[in-house]
Amino acid sequence: MKGHIATGAPNLTDQNWLYGDGSVFQIERTILYGIRSDRQKSRNITEMPAYGLRGQLSDADIRNLVQYVLQLSGQPNDAQAAIQGRAVYNGQGGCFDCHAADARGNSDYGAPDLTANSWLYGGDPQSLYNSIYSGRHGMMPAWIGKLTLEQIRALAVYIYVASHH
Ligand code: HEC
Repeated sequence: MKGHIATGAPNLTDQNWLYGDGSVFQIERTILYGIRSDRQKSRNITEMPAYGLRGQLSDADIRNLVQYVLQLSGQPNDAQAAIQGRAVYNGQGGCFDCHAADARGNSDYGAPDLTANSWLYGGDPQSLYNSIYSGRHGMMPAWIGKLTLEQIRALAVYIYVASHH
């Protein structure tokens, strides 16, 4: 239940939630309708843009952002590059729009906390570069209609308990 970096599947045993406040109700909603699934009530307000592929940021901008994200998450970083990365974060990159000015994320948008050093896709420099360059498009299937409502409720309670250990 600790997540899987190759698929971007989150750790379900901590209290770091992409969507909602971690209540049984919010967990149940995610299981029912999924994330970026084809269901109408699926969670899919935003996704991580592909800043490099779309030519929105230069290679140097992305490298500086990587250093800033390393700093935000308490990892070794190049402080000079991080200063420049912070300017891109709060300016041209518009990262604050989704991840918030304090980088703690936004659970209405599914934008992860960049300060927690707990990663969907990996927190090493190359993984961070890939996230910013190519974007990310995490997917969770909807289970409504495939499992009973009782099973889905039971799963939500199980995950809630696992996250409060
Ligand atoms: C439109 C909203 C949006 C904007 C703007 C945005 N992000 Fe994201 N970002 C997301 C979402 C949503 C995810 C989670 C993707 C997923 O679940 O697949 C994400 C994921 C990430 C990740 C991967 C985190 C992990 O746990 O592996 C990094 C790193 C990241 N963003 C950095 C940035 C930076 C730096 C910027 C600015 C250049 C930025 N983001 C701008 C929405 C956004």
